[in-house]
Amino acid sequence: MAAGAALVLGLAGCAGTRAGDPGAQQPAGGDNKGALIGVAMPTKTSERWIDDGNNVKAKLEELGYQVDLQYANDKVPDQQQQIESMLNKGAKVLIVASIDGTALSQQLAAAAEDGVKVIAYDRLINGTPNVDYYVTFDNNKVGVQQGTSLLQGLGILDAEGKDTGQTDKKTIELFAGSPDDNNAHFFFDGAMSVIQPYIDKGILTVGSGQTEFSQVAIQQWKQETAQARMETILNGFYAKGGKKLDGVLAPYDGLSRGILNATKAAAIPNPIVTGQDAEKPSDKLIMEGVQYSTIFKDTRLLGDTAATMVDDLLNGREPKTNDTKTYDNKVKIVPTYLHDTHIVTKENLIKVVVESGYYTKEEVESGQ
Ligand code: BGC
Repeated sequence: MAAGAALVLGLAGCAGTRAGDPGAQQPAGGDNKGALIGVAMPTKTSERWIDDGNNVKAKLEELGYQVDLQYANDKVPDQQQQIESMLNKGAKVLIVASIDGTALSQQLAAAAEDGVKVIAYDRLINGTPNVDYYVTFDNNKVGVQQGTSLLQGLGILDAEGKDTGQTDKKTIELFAGSPDDNNAHFFFDGAMSVIQPYIDKGILTVGSGQTEFSQVAIQQWKQETAQARMETILNGFYAKGGKKLDGVLAPYDGLSRGILNATKAAAIPNPIVTGQDAEKPSDKLIMEGVQYSTIFKDTRLLGDTAATMVDDLLNGREPKTNDTKTYDNKVKIVPTYLHDTHIVTKENLIKVVVESGYYTKEEVESGQ
Protein backbone atom coordinates (compact mmCIF):
# COMPACT_ATOMS: atom_id res chain seq x y z
CA MET A 1 0.00 0.00 0.00
CA ALA A 2 2.61 2.51 1.11
CA ALA A 3 4.69 1.75 -1.97
CA GLY A 4 1.88 2.78 -4.33
CA ALA A 5 1.17 5.99 -2.46
CA ALA A 6 4.87 6.79 -2.38
CA LEU A 7 5.01 6.27 -6.13
CA VAL A 8 2.21 8.75 -6.74
CA LEU A 9 3.52 11.21 -4.19
CA GLY A 10 7.02 10.81 -5.57
CA LEU A 11 5.78 11.92 -8.97
CA ALA A 12 4.03 14.87 -7.37
CA GLY A 13 7.28 15.85 -5.74
CA CYS A 14 9.27 15.72 -8.92
CA ALA A 15 6.92 17.92 -10.89
CA GLY A 16 5.87 20.47 -8.32
CA THR A 17 9.17 21.93 -7.26
CA ARG A 18 12.59 21.91 -8.74
CA ALA A 19 15.44 21.41 -6.36
CA GLY A 20 18.43 23.52 -7.23
CA ASP A 21 16.33 26.17 -8.93
CA PRO A 22 15.66 28.64 -6.14
CA GLY A 23 13.75 31.03 -8.38
CA ALA A 24 11.15 28.50 -9.52
CA GLN A 25 8.65 29.07 -6.74
CA GLN A 26 9.22 32.80 -6.24
CA PRO A 27 6.62 35.32 -7.40
CA ALA A 28 7.51 36.99 -10.68
CA GLY A 29 9.51 40.15 -10.31
CA GLY A 30 9.94 43.28 -12.44
CA ASP A 31 7.36 44.06 -15.10
CA ASN A 32 5.70 40.69 -14.79
CA LYS A 33 4.85 40.86 -11.11
CA GLY A 34 1.14 40.17 -10.78
CA ALA A 35 0.80 39.66 -14.54
CA LEU A 36 -2.47 38.35 -15.96
CA ILE A 37 -2.44 34.75 -17.21
CA GLY A 38 -5.24 33.48 -19.46
CA VAL A 39 -6.38 29.90 -18.80
CA ALA A 40 -8.77 28.49 -21.45
CA MET A 41 -10.45 25.20 -20.51
CA PRO A 42 -12.75 23.21 -22.83
CA THR A 43 -15.81 22.27 -20.77
CA LYS A 44 -17.36 21.84 -17.36
CA THR A 45 -19.25 18.69 -18.36
CA SER A 46 -16.39 16.52 -17.16
CA GLU A 47 -15.09 16.92 -13.63
CA ARG A 48 -11.48 16.49 -14.63
CA TRP A 49 -11.49 19.85 -16.43
CA ILE A 50 -13.04 21.57 -13.41
CA ASP A 51 -10.25 20.13 -11.24
CA ASP A 52 -7.66 21.14 -13.85
CA GLY A 53 -8.92 24.74 -13.98
CA ASN A 54 -9.00 25.06 -10.20
CA ASN A 55 -5.52 23.56 -9.80
CA VAL A 56 -3.89 25.78 -12.39
CA LYS A 57 -5.59 28.89 -11.02
CA ALA A 58 -4.59 28.13 -7.41
CA LYS A 59 -1.01 27.41 -8.35
CA LEU A 60 -0.67 30.56 -10.46
CA GLU A 61 -2.19 32.70 -7.70
CA GLU A 62 0.23 31.14 -5.22
CA LEU A 63 3.03 32.35 -7.49
CA GLY A 64 1.61 35.88 -7.43
CA TYR A 65 -0.22 36.03 -10.78
CA GLN A 66 -3.74 37.12 -11.67
CA VAL A 67 -5.79 34.55 -13.53
CA ASP A 68 -8.55 34.80 -16.12
CA LEU A 69 -10.01 31.25 -16.13
CA GLN A 70 -12.64 30.53 -18.80
CA TYR A 71 -14.61 27.43 -19.79
CA ALA A 72 -15.95 27.17 -23.35
CA ASN A 73 -18.78 24.65 -22.95
CA ASP A 74 -17.26 22.48 -25.72
CA LYS A 75 -18.00 25.25 -28.27
CA VAL A 76 -15.12 26.23 -30.54
CA PRO A 77 -16.35 29.82 -31.27
CA ASP A 78 -16.69 30.43 -27.51
CA GLN A 79 -13.12 29.33 -26.93
CA GLN A 80 -11.84 31.49 -29.81
CA GLN A 81 -13.66 34.49 -28.40
CA GLN A 82 -12.45 33.81 -24.84
CA ILE A 83 -8.84 33.75 -26.03
CA GLU A 84 -9.33 37.01 -27.95
CA SER A 85 -10.76 38.60 -24.83
CA MET A 86 -7.81 37.36 -22.70
CA LEU A 87 -5.44 39.03 -25.16
CA ASN A 88 -7.48 42.24 -25.06
CA LYS A 89 -7.22 42.25 -21.29
CA GLY A 90 -3.42 42.07 -21.60
CA ALA A 91 -2.70 38.44 -20.68
CA LYS A 92 1.05 37.75 -20.74
CA VAL A 93 0.89 33.96 -21.16
CA LEU A 94 -1.92 31.68 -22.32
CA ILE A 95 -2.56 28.15 -21.06
CA VAL A 96 -4.96 26.46 -23.48
CA ALA A 97 -6.73 23.11 -23.30
CA SER A 98 -8.27 23.20 -26.75
CA ILE A 99 -11.61 21.82 -27.92
CA ASP A 100 -10.60 21.49 -31.56
CA GLY A 101 -6.81 21.36 -31.75
CA THR A 102 -6.81 22.88 -35.24
CA ALA A 103 -9.17 25.82 -34.73
CA LEU A 104 -7.07 28.39 -32.88
CA SER A 105 -4.46 29.48 -35.46
CA GLN A 106 -5.82 33.00 -35.89
CA GLN A 107 -6.04 33.73 -32.16
CA LEU A 108 -2.58 32.31 -31.52
CA ALA A 109 -1.09 34.35 -34.36
CA ALA A 110 -2.46 37.43 -32.60
CA ALA A 111 -0.90 36.22 -29.35
CA ALA A 112 2.49 35.79 -31.03
CA GLU A 113 2.29 39.32 -32.46
CA ASP A 114 1.83 40.62 -28.92
CA GLY A 115 4.75 38.51 -27.67
CA VAL A 116 2.39 36.32 -25.63
CA LYS A 117 3.69 32.78 -25.10
CA VAL A 118 1.31 29.85 -25.41
CA ILE A 119 1.33 26.59 -23.45
CA ALA A 120 -0.87 23.79 -24.82
CA TYR A 121 -2.43 22.07 -21.83
CA ASP A 122 -3.16 18.32 -22.02
CA ARG A 123 -4.28 18.53 -25.69
CA LEU A 124 -1.86 19.47 -28.46
CA ILE A 125 -2.72 22.50 -30.61
CA ASN A 126 -2.10 21.62 -34.25
CA GLY A 127 -1.22 23.43 -37.46
CA THR A 128 0.32 26.60 -35.97
CA PRO A 129 3.88 27.69 -35.19
CA ASN A 130 2.50 29.76 -32.31
CA VAL A 131 2.44 27.15 -29.59
CA ASP A 132 5.57 27.27 -27.45
CA TYR A 133 5.29 24.39 -24.99
CA TYR A 134 3.07 21.41 -24.31
CA VAL A 135 2.34 19.87 -20.92
CA THR A 136 0.48 16.58 -20.88
CA PHE A 137 0.41 12.96 -19.79
CA ASP A 138 2.03 10.22 -21.84
CA ASN A 139 -0.93 9.83 -24.18
CA ASN A 140 0.33 6.81 -26.08
CA LYS A 141 0.98 5.07 -22.77
CA VAL A 142 -2.58 5.88 -21.63
CA GLY A 143 -3.86 4.01 -24.70
CA VAL A 144 -1.53 1.06 -24.10
CA GLN A 145 -2.71 0.93 -20.48
CA GLN A 146 -6.37 0.99 -21.57
CA GLY A 147 -5.80 -1.89 -24.00
CA THR A 148 -3.75 -3.78 -21.42
CA SER A 149 -6.40 -3.48 -18.73
CA LEU A 150 -9.10 -4.66 -21.15
CA LEU A 151 -6.98 -7.76 -21.88
CA GLN A 152 -6.31 -8.24 -18.17
CA GLY A 153 -10.03 -8.03 -17.37
CA LEU A 154 -10.68 -10.65 -20.06
CA GLY A 155 -8.03 -12.95 -18.54
CA ILE A 156 -5.80 -12.77 -21.63
CA LEU A 157 -2.97 -10.95 -19.81
CA ASP A 158 -1.94 -11.39 -16.18
CA ALA A 159 -1.34 -8.68 -13.60
CA GLU A 160 2.20 -8.15 -14.93
CA GLY A 161 0.92 -7.78 -18.50
CA LYS A 162 2.14 -11.26 -19.61
CA ASP A 163 0.06 -13.51 -21.86
CA THR A 164 -1.77 -16.10 -19.74
CA GLY A 165 -2.08 -18.56 -22.63
CA GLN A 166 -5.88 -18.32 -22.49
CA THR A 167 -7.36 -19.09 -25.91
CA ASP A 168 -11.12 -18.82 -25.15
CA LYS A 169 -12.75 -16.69 -27.81
CA LYS A 170 -14.15 -13.36 -26.58
CA THR A 171 -16.30 -10.69 -28.19
CA ILE A 172 -15.54 -7.01 -27.71
CA GLU A 173 -16.54 -3.55 -28.95
CA LEU A 174 -14.29 -0.52 -29.46
CA PHE A 175 -14.90 3.15 -28.68
CA ALA A 176 -12.63 6.16 -29.29
CA GLY A 177 -12.75 9.82 -28.25
CA SER A 178 -13.52 13.00 -30.18
CA PRO A 179 -11.83 13.12 -33.60
CA ASP A 180 -10.90 16.82 -33.22
CA ASP A 181 -8.93 16.03 -30.03
CA ASN A 182 -5.40 14.96 -30.92
CA ASN A 183 -5.26 12.81 -27.78
CA ALA A 184 -8.12 10.60 -28.98
CA HIS A 185 -5.91 9.26 -31.79
CA PHE A 186 -3.01 8.55 -29.41
CA PHE A 187 -5.32 6.69 -27.02
CA PHE A 188 -6.89 4.55 -29.76
CA ASP A 189 -3.61 3.74 -31.51
CA GLY A 190 -1.95 2.89 -28.18
CA ALA A 191 -4.82 0.59 -27.18
CA MET A 192 -4.98 -1.11 -30.58
CA SER A 193 -1.24 -1.79 -30.50
CA VAL A 194 -1.94 -4.32 -27.73
CA ILE A 195 -5.46 -5.45 -28.76
CA GLN A 196 -4.93 -5.97 -32.52
CA PRO A 197 -2.61 -9.00 -32.17
CA TYR A 198 -5.42 -10.86 -30.34
CA ILE A 199 -7.92 -9.91 -33.07
CA ASP A 200 -5.42 -11.21 -35.65
CA LYS A 201 -5.06 -14.50 -33.71
CA GLY A 202 -8.86 -14.90 -33.65
CA ILE A 203 -9.02 -14.79 -29.84
CA LEU A 204 -10.90 -11.48 -29.92
CA THR A 205 -13.72 -10.60 -32.31
CA VAL A 206 -15.31 -7.18 -32.65
CA GLY A 207 -18.99 -8.18 -32.75
CA SER A 208 -20.16 -5.19 -34.79
CA GLY A 209 -17.20 -5.40 -37.16
CA GLN A 210 -16.61 -1.67 -36.49
CA THR A 211 -12.88 -1.29 -35.97
CA GLU A 212 -11.92 1.92 -37.79
CA PHE A 213 -11.32 5.06 -35.74
CA SER A 214 -13.90 6.91 -37.85
CA GLN A 215 -16.55 4.28 -37.00
CA VAL A 216 -15.90 4.17 -33.27
CA ALA A 217 -15.09 7.83 -32.45
CA ILE A 218 -17.51 9.79 -30.25
CA GLN A 219 -17.81 13.50 -31.11
CA GLN A 220 -17.07 15.83 -28.19
CA TRP A 221 -16.58 12.81 -25.91
CA LYS A 222 -20.35 12.83 -25.18
CA GLN A 223 -21.69 10.20 -22.78
CA GLU A 224 -25.13 10.14 -24.40
CA THR A 225 -23.63 9.57 -27.87
CA ALA A 226 -21.66 6.59 -26.54
CA GLN A 227 -24.78 5.23 -24.86
CA ALA A 228 -26.79 5.56 -28.09
CA ARG A 229 -24.05 3.84 -30.12
CA MET A 230 -23.84 0.99 -27.61
CA GLU A 231 -27.65 0.58 -27.69
CA THR A 232 -27.64 0.45 -31.50
CA ILE A 233 -24.85 -2.13 -31.49
CA LEU A 234 -26.56 -4.29 -28.85
CA ASN A 235 -29.81 -4.25 -30.82
CA GLY A 236 -28.15 -4.85 -34.16
CA PHE A 237 -25.51 -7.45 -33.36
CA TYR A 238 -26.20 -9.03 -29.98
CA ALA A 239 -29.96 -9.14 -29.34
CA LYS A 240 -30.93 -11.87 -31.79
CA GLY A 241 -27.84 -13.99 -32.36
CA GLY A 242 -27.33 -14.65 -28.65
CA LYS A 243 -23.77 -13.30 -28.92
CA LYS A 244 -22.26 -12.40 -25.54
CA LEU A 245 -20.46 -9.07 -25.16
CA ASP A 246 -17.35 -9.70 -23.04
CA GLY A 247 -15.50 -6.41 -23.13
CA VAL A 248 -15.56 -2.80 -24.29
CA LEU A 249 -12.60 -0.50 -24.90
CA ALA A 250 -13.75 2.89 -23.60
CA PRO A 251 -11.27 5.79 -23.61
CA TYR A 252 -12.92 8.04 -20.99
CA ASP A 253 -15.06 7.45 -17.87
CA GLY A 254 -18.02 9.47 -19.20
CA LEU A 255 -18.21 7.14 -22.22
CA SER A 256 -17.76 4.11 -19.94
CA ARG A 257 -20.81 5.15 -17.95
CA GLY A 258 -22.86 5.64 -21.13
CA ILE A 259 -21.85 2.16 -22.29
CA LEU A 260 -22.73 0.64 -18.90
CA ASN A 261 -26.10 2.41 -18.93
CA ALA A 262 -26.81 0.72 -22.26
CA THR A 263 -25.78 -2.76 -21.08
CA LYS A 264 -27.81 -2.28 -17.90
CA ALA A 265 -30.90 -1.25 -19.89
CA ALA A 266 -30.42 -4.34 -22.09
CA ALA A 267 -30.26 -6.42 -18.89
CA ILE A 268 -27.09 -8.22 -19.91
CA PRO A 269 -24.17 -9.00 -17.57
CA ASN A 270 -21.63 -6.17 -17.24
CA PRO A 271 -18.86 -6.54 -19.78
CA ILE A 272 -15.27 -5.58 -18.85
CA VAL A 273 -15.25 -1.81 -19.49
CA THR A 274 -12.14 0.42 -19.33
CA GLY A 275 -12.03 4.18 -18.81
CA GLN A 276 -9.90 7.23 -18.07
CA ASP A 277 -9.66 10.07 -15.51
CA ALA A 278 -10.77 8.24 -12.34
CA GLU A 279 -13.89 10.44 -12.17
CA LYS A 280 -15.79 10.07 -8.90
CA PRO A 281 -18.95 8.42 -10.37
CA SER A 282 -16.72 5.89 -12.15
CA ASP A 283 -14.62 5.31 -9.03
CA LYS A 284 -17.84 4.32 -7.29
CA LEU A 285 -18.73 1.92 -10.13
CA ILE A 286 -15.23 0.42 -9.97
CA MET A 287 -15.52 -0.10 -6.19
CA GLU A 288 -18.87 -1.82 -6.83
CA GLY A 289 -17.38 -4.06 -9.55
CA VAL A 290 -19.50 -2.53 -12.35
CA GLN A 291 -16.80 -0.64 -14.34
CA TYR A 292 -13.59 -2.65 -14.57
CA SER A 293 -10.85 -0.03 -14.78
CA THR A 294 -9.84 3.57 -15.35
CA ILE A 295 -6.59 5.42 -15.92
CA PHE A 296 -5.51 7.77 -13.14
CA LYS A 297 -3.99 11.02 -14.33
CA ASP A 298 -2.96 13.23 -11.44
CA THR A 299 -4.09 16.60 -12.79
CA ARG A 300 -2.42 18.34 -9.84
CA LEU A 301 0.91 17.54 -11.48
CA LEU A 302 -0.20 19.00 -14.79
CA GLY A 303 -1.37 22.21 -13.12
CA ASP A 304 1.89 22.55 -11.21
CA THR A 305 3.98 22.05 -14.32
CA ALA A 306 1.96 24.52 -16.39
CA ALA A 307 2.18 27.17 -13.67
CA THR A 308 5.92 26.58 -13.22
CA MET A 309 6.37 26.96 -17.00
CA VAL A 310 4.54 30.30 -16.89
CA ASP A 311 6.76 31.47 -14.05
CA ASP A 312 9.88 30.37 -15.91
CA LEU A 313 8.81 32.12 -19.09
CA LEU A 314 8.06 35.38 -17.29
CA ASN A 315 11.37 35.30 -15.45
CA GLY A 316 13.60 34.59 -18.42
CA ARG A 317 14.17 30.91 -17.61
CA GLU A 318 13.83 28.05 -20.08
CA PRO A 319 10.94 25.77 -18.99
CA LYS A 320 11.90 22.18 -18.24
CA THR A 321 10.76 19.58 -20.80
CA ASN A 322 11.30 15.81 -21.06
CA ASP A 323 10.13 15.01 -24.62
CA THR A 324 11.29 16.87 -27.70
CA LYS A 325 10.43 14.18 -30.28
CA THR A 326 6.85 12.93 -30.04
CA TYR A 327 4.48 15.85 -30.41
CA ASP A 328 4.64 17.07 -33.99
CA ASN A 329 1.82 19.57 -34.55
CA LYS A 330 2.27 19.43 -38.36
CA VAL A 331 4.26 22.69 -38.27
CA LYS A 332 6.83 21.95 -35.58
CA ILE A 333 7.75 19.55 -32.82
CA VAL A 334 6.41 21.15 -29.66
CA PRO A 335 8.73 20.75 -26.63
CA THR A 336 6.76 18.78 -24.06
CA TYR A 337 6.69 17.86 -20.41
CA LEU A 338 5.06 14.43 -19.99
CA HIS A 339 3.64 13.04 -16.77
CA ASP A 340 3.08 9.39 -15.95
CA THR A 341 -0.27 7.59 -15.60
CA HIS A 342 -1.55 4.52 -13.71
CA ILE A 343 -4.06 1.73 -14.38
CA VAL A 344 -6.66 1.68 -11.59
CA THR A 345 -8.96 -1.24 -10.76
CA LYS A 346 -10.87 -2.25 -7.64
CA GLU A 347 -7.59 -3.76 -6.35
CA ASN A 348 -5.65 -0.49 -6.11
CA LEU A 349 -8.20 2.34 -6.29
CA ILE A 350 -7.96 3.25 -2.61
CA LYS A 351 -4.19 3.14 -2.72
CA VAL A 352 -3.75 5.23 -5.87
CA VAL A 353 -6.69 7.63 -5.83
CA VAL A 354 -7.43 8.04 -2.11
CA GLU A 355 -4.07 7.57 -0.38
CA SER A 356 -2.45 10.06 -2.76
CA GLY A 357 -4.95 12.64 -1.48
CA TYR A 358 -6.63 13.06 -4.89
CA TYR A 359 -10.14 12.18 -3.69
CA THR A 360 -11.39 11.16 -0.25
CA LYS A 361 -12.73 7.70 0.57
CA GLU A 362 -16.19 9.25 0.97
CA GLU A 363 -16.00 10.83 -2.49
CA VAL A 364 -15.05 7.60 -4.28
CA GLU A 365 -17.60 5.60 -2.30
CA SER A 366 -20.46 8.03 -2.91
CA GLY A 367 -19.41 8.94 -6.45
CA GLN A 368 -19.87 12.64 -5.67
C1 BGC B 1 -8.08 14.08 -22.04
C2 BGC B 1 -8.71 12.97 -21.27
C3 BGC B 1 -10.21 13.16 -21.16
C4 BGC B 1 -10.82 13.51 -22.50
C5 BGC B 1 -12.28 13.87 -22.38
C6 BGC B 1 -8.77 14.23 -23.37
O1 BGC B 1 -8.17 15.21 -24.12
O2 BGC B 1 -6.70 13.84 -22.22
O3 BGC B 1 -8.15 12.92 -19.97
O4 BGC B 1 -10.78 11.96 -20.72
O5 BGC B 1 -10.12 14.55 -23.13
O6 BGC B 1 -12.45 15.01 -21.60
